[in-house]
Amino acid sequence: MSRPTFTSSAKRIMVAIDVDELSEAKKIAENLKDLGVTFKIGNQLGTYEGWQKAVEFARQYGAQIFCDTKFKDIPNTVEKSARAITRRQPDFFNVMADNNLAALVAAVDGTKNAVEDFSLASKPIILGVTVLTSINSEESDQIYGDDPASKVLQFASNAAKAGLDGVVCSAEEVTILRSDKRTSNLILVTPGIRPSWAAPNDQARIITPSQAVKNGSDYLVIGRPITQPPKDIGSPRDAVLKIIEELDQVK
Ligand code: C5P
Repeated sequence: MSRPTFTSSAKRIMVAIDVDELSEAKKIAENLKDLGVTFKIGNQLGTYEGWQKAVEFARQYGAQIFCDTKFKDIPNTVEKSARAITRRQPDFFNVMADNNLAALVAAVDGTKNAVEDFSLASKPIILGVTVLTSINSEESDQIYGDDPASKVLQFASNAAKAGLDGVVCSAEEVTILRSDKRTSNLILVTPGIRPSWAAPNDQARIITPSQAVKNGSDYLVIGRPITQPPKDIGSPRDAVLKIIEELDQVK
């Protein structure tokens, strides 16, 4: 899968809808109607309501859906999980890229087999999650024995080797991935995005939407700044419009 070209800034935005119930998700979706953003649905809603309902919900709003499944397991289980989520026909799903190469290859195989066996019209984009944007340098060192930048490059090059379409990383690491020939063509999806007017919350490695795009991000995952915007910004829709305005300035 090659890198996308965007006909509007809205298409870069993936709104993280981190709620348990469809009724809550619908409130957010109603407010964001027809903006053209992608819905990134977390395990919270996928677990409580089921992925089938989550996909149907996004389709009901004409939105693309990213199922943030974050699969991490032995290769056989990753393959079966990738196959199962592919049957639900999301636009994107992901696996943890801090796994062995065999497990990442298994995700690609599981998806390919599901597309063939069930004659699906399209293949979802498979992303590998590198180092979570909530993990700071000290924690990365403690968990992985190295700084986030080195680990992100290592996990992303494994993802590329396995045939994944892209990775999830911090926009701080995007420049590194774009300048390494093993990872330069990956689709880069970046959470940890905070407009200058938003609170950082629990994110440790944050960057503004415009800086992320300047660095080379393709898609921006943005949750709380949109779903719980500061009072003076207004509604989730107002927050998205403000972010679009900021992105439209980037040329
Ligand atoms: O509210 P906020 O903008 O921090 O939401 C970020 C979203 O991106 C959350 O749904 C979180 O699970 C997800 N995510 C992340 N860091 C990653 C991968 C996914 O924050 N590396």
